[in-house]
This record gives sequence, structure tokens and C-alpha cells, in this order.
Amino acid sequence: MLSASFRLDPAFTIAPVSRRTFGSFVEHMGRCVYTGIYEPTHPTADSDGFRQDVLALTRELGVSTVRYPGGNFVSGYRWEDGIGPVADRPVRRDLAWHSLETNEVGIDEFMRWAGKAGVEVMYALNLGTRGVAEALDVQEYLNHPDRTRLAELRRSNGADKPYGISMFCLGNELDGPWQTGHKTAYEYGRLAAETARAMRAAEPDLELVACGSSSSSMPTFAAWEAEVLELTYDQVDYISAHAYYEPLDGDIGSFLASAVDMDHFINSVTATADSVGAKLKSKKRLKISFDEWNVWYLTRFQATRETEWQVAPPVIEDSYNVTDAVVVGSLLISLLRHSDRVTAACQAQLVNVIAPIRTEPGGAAWRQTIFHPFALTSRLAKGDVLRVEPAAPSYETARYGDVPLIDAVATHDPESGDVTVFVVNRSQDAPATLTVPLAGFGADLQVAETWTVHDDDPNATNTATDPDRVVPHDLAGATVTDGELRATLAPVSWSAIRLTRTA
Ligand code: AHR
Repeated sequence: MLSASFRLDPAFTIAPVSRRTFGSFVEHMGRCVYTGIYEPTHPTADSDGFRQDVLALTRELGVSTVRYPGGNFVSGYRWEDGIGPVADRPVRRDLAWHSLETNEVGIDEFMRWAGKAGVEVMYALNLGTRGVAEALDVQEYLNHPDRTRLAELRRSNGADKPYGISMFCLGNELDGPWQTGHKTAYEYGRLAAETARAMRAAEPDLELVACGSSSSSMPTFAAWEAEVLELTYDQVDYISAHAYYEPLDGDIGSFLASAVDMDHFINSVTATADSVGAKLKSKKRLKISFDEWNVWYLTRFQATRETEWQVAPPVIEDSYNVTDAVVVGSLLISLLRHSDRVTAACQAQLVNVIAPIRTEPGGAAWRQTIFHPFALTSRLAKGDVLRVEPAAPSYETARYGDVPLIDAVATHDPESGDVTVFVVNRSQDAPATLTVPLAGFGADLQVAETWTVHDDDPNATNTATDPDRVVPHDLAGATVTDGELRATLAPVSWSAIRLTRTA
């Protein structure tokens, strides 16, 4: 049995929990849109063709923000193709995923869906094949109230009021050679700066995201951020980060430590951004929009890449197991721990494409294993994020060296007094006892609810025929005794424990 402990104190505040940490991502890719959120012939479809089973699961997941419409897709996308009468909309090639895009769903449909789901939209602009003029056009269509040609066009398409989108991504992964319209850091930085400057001339308060590297393993990582930010620093509010994790060569120990890499990635981007700020003698501090993150079995995808020109083919429909869910829970711990700088994040993606929600065309929708830590963290992380320094044994990993077996973060809601601990046990064979002295809270706390994602079979998955094979369970035996939280954490587990004031 391992043992771990950490102190919690309401004075050790990192930052308020940002609701935008619980963002997601809908790309016109595979079956995320078509037969994912939208399927007019489905038995649960509403009058707009949206699957109500998927809408209900999206609400249950606790998604705050949704990035749209891509992704690699956006770098070749013409937003005008997706407005007006559906019968008049063109079918186009999507070069990013070698699919056909019918444009049945465009921005007006998506905004209707977002309203029903109760989510904010983070709109990604095409800065791959397009530039300043087209960015201004879509901004005018989305946000200008009336009288201009594009505002009136929106109104004639049924949206009388502007959509009021406040957060725009200035392109997607333009450092990547696979990206349509791939650019050097200088080319991209200049374009992003001029696009931002022009958009702000109409709406000074927009929140704009410059593209960071598509992963920290890119050869240009950090140099890209530095050059782009030198060109855009005064014009943007965020730099983006993207990271996907998978077990490589069967190395589960390193996979379970993926959050160590995410921590390092965030710290590196923060340091790079701050160094540019220092060089520019700016007091402004940029935030990070971690607008693509997840577990993705990328190696498997690269081996089986689909090249047929089909409409909404199944693409990267990864089926997630318990270990994947524990890693997702630990990545959320990392994001929360950096709430002082990471104030927006999007799990990629929402439905079918490396997603917490899966559907069958015409059939069921179900929660993948990774749904559960996301939904629980979104529901329970309230108030302020507290700094946590676990004292725990460590283990050796091939990719990240010595890694603590226990990782954790906590939140404290000053209004309700609730304290929630999110904790992961990375050991593959040993349970761990957790002890957390609570004296700093100055009030008696008791356990209000506990959840753990664990299974004797870490490879267990949820499927259409067995959708609840893996569900969170009560963390039996968690108590507050003598002013200390005590709990036992199973191997390969992620847990959440909410404490509340004793009445
Ligand atoms: O989410 C899948 C893809 O991953 C996105 O289209 C792209 O931005 C990233 O490389």
C-alpha cells in the first residue's frame, strides 16, 4: 500500500476556476457533425435536424465552450458555402480529411445547435487559404447588428440579432506542413497581426487567439511561439496549445504520466510568451487557450489513413478504456493547476471523432469512459483552484523520468464552503492511502460525495451494446476523521471527493 498526503489551505489560491476550461470542439471532420450532432432522419432529431440524445449528453458533459468549425478543416473552408437555402449550398472537397463537405450544416445551424446545448462558440477563422478580408466578412456576418450587406444577409437567413461571438482563433495549426496554407512563423505572425488589428477596428474587445505550435514535439516549437508573438503580442490575448497523448510501444507507465508533459508544455509556452513580453517591455500577460487536447491513438490512425472522397466517413473513432479515462482526468488536473494562465481549453472533439460521446447512425448515443472524469470535473470544480503539493512516492518512466505516483488538485468555493479534491493514482498495481489535513478551513467539513473511475480491467470500454460497462463508482470508505480527509485510491484510478461544511 502506498501512502500520499498534501495540505489544503484556502489561502493557497492559484486563480478562479475558469468555466472555459471545460470547452470542447466540433470540427467538420468524420462523423462529428453529420450523424454526430446533426442527423435529420434520426428518431430523436428535433425540427432543426439535431440529435436530442447528443444534445442531452452534451449538456450532461458540462461543456462550456465549443470551438468550431475546425481544426485542419477550417484552413480550406469557405464559410459562405454554409449559409442560405440548403439546396443551393455547394458540395466541396475537404482536403484536410479527404472527405466531401455537403455544407448542410453551416454557421447559422451551428449557432442554433449551440443555443440548444447552452454553450459559447469559439469561432476559428480560415487563415490558411484566406486572409484579412474574409475574416472581416465572417466577423461582420456573425457580429454586426444590422444595415450592412452581411449583417442583413444574416438577418435574411433568420438570425435577427448578432451572434456576439467574443472569442476568435486566428487560424489553426499553421506551423504544420500538413495544414492547407501552411506558413512560416513570419508569414503567419504578420497575417495574424493584421487580421487582429482589422477585426479590433470594429470590435476592440474581442478575445483573439494566435496559433501556437501544433504540438510541443514540432521542430519549430518555442521558436514559432516567440516569432509569432513578437509580431502579434499587442493584438492578441491568447496563444494556443495543442497536445494529444497515447500509449507508445505499450508503455502504460509513461502514458499515465502524460500530465507531466502537459505541465511542462504549459510552463514552456508561458515562459516563451513572458520572455517576448519582457523583450517588448510590455506589462501585458498573455493567456493560453489549450484548444485541442485529449487521448488520441494517433499512431493507429496514421497507419490506416482514409483517402476516399466520402461524405462523413468514420474517422478516428477511438474507443476509450479505463486507463484512457484516468489519463483524461489527470490532464484536467494539469489544466486546473495552471488556471492562472490557461483560461480556455477544448477537449478534442465532442462526438465520434476522438470523443467522449459516440453515436451510431440511426441508433444509440453513449458515454465513452473519458466522458466521466470530464463531466465530474466540470460539475464539481467551483470557486478557486488551490495549490496542492502532494508528498508521494514516485516511479521511473521511460519518457518523463521520475514521476510522482499521486497527482492532485483541489478547488474551494468560498460561497458554499465546498472543497473538492481531484486525485489520480498512477500506480498499476498498488492502492494508495490519501491523507489530507483540513485545519486551514476553520470549519468542520464532511464528505458530501465521492466518485472514482477505476475497473479491475483497465482495458474495459463502453460500447453501443454495453454503454455503462464503465461508470464512476462511490469511493467507498472516504471519510473526514480528526480533521483529516482519508481515502484509499485504487491502482490506475481517478477520483473526485467533494467536502462540504457540517450543518
Ligand atoms: O482534432 C483532430 C485534428 O488534430 C485537428 O483537425 C487538428 O487541428 C489537429 O491536428
